[in-house]
Amino acid sequence: MLSETKINELIGQTLEKRDGAALRGEFESGGNLLVIEDFLPEELLNSTLDEINRVRHRVNRNYVPHQKKGGAVSRHAIDREAEMIAGLYRSRPLRAFLEEISGARLLDCLPSDPHTYALYFYTEPGDHISWHYDTSFYRGRRFTLLFGMTQNESCLFECETHRRDDSKATESRAYSLKPGSLVFFDGDGLWHRVTKMAEGDSERIVITMEFVTDQSMHPWRRLVSNVKDAVAYFGLREVFARKATFSGAPRSGT
Ligand SMILES: [Fe+2]
Repeated sequence: MLSETKINELIGQTLEKRDGAALRGEFESGGNLLVIEDFLPEELLNSTLDEINRVRHRVNRNYVPHQKKGGAVSRHAIDREAEMIAGLYRSRPLRAFLEEISGARLLDCLPSDPHTYALYFYTEPGDHISWHYDTSFYRGRRFTLLFGMTQNESCLFECETHRRDDSKATESRAYSLKPGSLVFFDGDGLWHRVTKMAEGDSERIVITMEFVTDQSMHPWRRLVSNVKDAVAYFGLREVFARKATFSGAPRSGT
């Protein structure tokens, strides 16, 4: 497990090789989407995979007919058993980079939000998620960051840019996320899906992180968000049992 200092040092090293201004231009012209194939340095990738293996027994399998099938590990389980991933979320150089790319001040999600950072596991044939936006339940904008962790060929990240912008032509793209790759996009602006895992393919594991521009949320939308997270991702216990014990103060891991 790497310290936050070491995480920041390794992120700093990978960012030294990047041209932030050019990547911001790529993000804007590409429909508020940026993909970098070899973002995570090998040492950081390998340590993160070790963390994932420590927490993978917490995977909650889920199935929503015609919408999704797969497994997920919540932020709360990560805080308990794979805290290095939380350190990656809090990394200041990473956050500064994402703010440069998006042009927005990016805030943490609420400590009670199980989707703040999470793991998605596609491990069985047919695992997938259908077309959707990463709709924000917060009042401001919401950005999604994905890190590809494993080599998988059948679960393609497919997307259509500019669907909500009549002034620009929609463009279709498909990515096979390589280990160590970064995908960053405006959740409310990118129509996307993950195609079905084929028989015989190796598992697809992705870290997902959510950043917001406003930490407030209407109580009704918070309830909708929690029900969605319980049913479609993490299970009732992980979402609602956690909330019953949540004091409202930021946690350092429980
Ligand atoms: Fe999504």
